[in-house]
Amino acid sequence: MFQSIAIVGATGAVGSLIRKMLQQREFPYEKIMFLASQRSAGTTLIFKGEKHTVELLCPEAFDDVDLAIGSTPDPVAGEFCPWAVERNCVVVDESGYWRMDPNVPLVVPEINPEAALNHQGIIASPNCSTTQMVLAMKPLHDAGRVRRVVVSTYQATSGAGVQGQEDLVAGSRAFLEGQDYKCQAFKHPIAFNLIPQIGSPKHAGYTSEEMKMVYETQKIFGDDSIKVCPTCVRVPVENCHSESILVETEKKITVAEARELFAATPGIKVIDNLAAGEYPMPANCSGDDAVFIGRIREDLSCDNGLAFWCVSDNLRKGAATNAVQIAELLVKSQAAV
Ligand SMILES: NC(=O)c1ccc[n+]([C@@H]2O[C@H](COP(=O)([O-])OP(=O)(O)OC[C@H]3O[C@@H](n4cnc5c(N)ncnc54)[C@H](OP(=O)(O)O)[C@@H]3O)[C@@H](O)[C@H]2O)c1
Repeated sequence: MFQSIAIVGATGAVGSLIRKMLQQREFPYEKIMFLASQRSAGTTLIFKGEKHTVELLCPEAFDDVDLAIGSTPDPVAGEFCPWAVERNCVVVDESGYWRMDPNVPLVVPEINPEAALNHQGIIASPNCSTTQMVLAMKPLHDAGRVRRVVVSTYQATSGAGVQGQEDLVAGSRAFLEGQDYKCQAFKHPIAFNLIPQIGSPKHAGYTSEEMKMVYETQKIFGDDSIKVCPTCVRVPVENCHSESILVETEKKITVAEARELFAATPGIKVIDNLAAGEYPMPANCSGDDAVFIGRIREDLSCDNGLAFWCVSDNLRKGAATNAVQIAELLVKSQAAV
């Protein structure tokens, strides 16, 4: 058990859910601390029925902390993780800053749990759009070796944090009332619109969000030969990312086999009855830790291709749940020593 833990970015969209998950999953610790920026330092929050003051993130905050779970913007994580590691504190980090560092394992517990135990102080949790896709790929990769993935995402505004959530709600209200609204998190209005750009231009016409899906997938599976062609789109949905995924495997997997493989995979739930109008949607997946799969069908354009629809709560499995599961792996490994 870690004696003392800190939640860094405790006031954010992901941080708030991490607090909830720690409570729900009865994560063991003796002392807990909540850290954020100057903006929230000094405010109070309620955790397990008790009032806690949010403290300012600074190097000394980690003096007596054994485990930190961080969900801050990338540059903040780039700064605070070394402060923590220098003080022998292990960090599970949600940001994108450390994910591709060769010395930092990038972990989805259902796929590469062993990597988490091989850390040098920092363990990264993948981008939300990657996590649900790789979890869906896992049984297909094990059974038929995935060679190529074509994915289009339909990403919720909560993926852009508290400000993204505000932009959808306040922007929709303003739109309906014929008022102007200036988005804080997005370049364009998101109400009654969709935006085919998430992140900044990164490589060959792809955005940073899209290249995360390429590089993180290869790192998690430890296989650079898996090809991924992503298009990431922000849509006016409050919570849950949806993805249209097309997977080409070396060995053919039939629809019936895929359905069985998905159903047998921990962390995946199948809702797939087109005739009855049953499939995963953000409205029926929000608040659940699973990755939901439906619309499973053969790709009509190639021999060994499967197409399916995948929805997951980006704040849960895409972020908070995955981070807390990684922390639980660490607790378990301590208990096993
Ligand atoms: N949202 C998702 O679906 C999702 C999924 C996977 C990964 N992530 C990653 O998780 C991280 C957090 O995302 P989010 O959506 O929770 O964002 P958010 O709602 O904007 O929350 C950001 C958090 O970081 C804190 N923070 C900001 N600047 C800080 C500073 N200079 N010093 C200390 N704390 C600071 C904020 O505290 P204040 O209250 O003081 O501003 C807040 O607690 C990001 O790296 C994001 O890419 C997000």
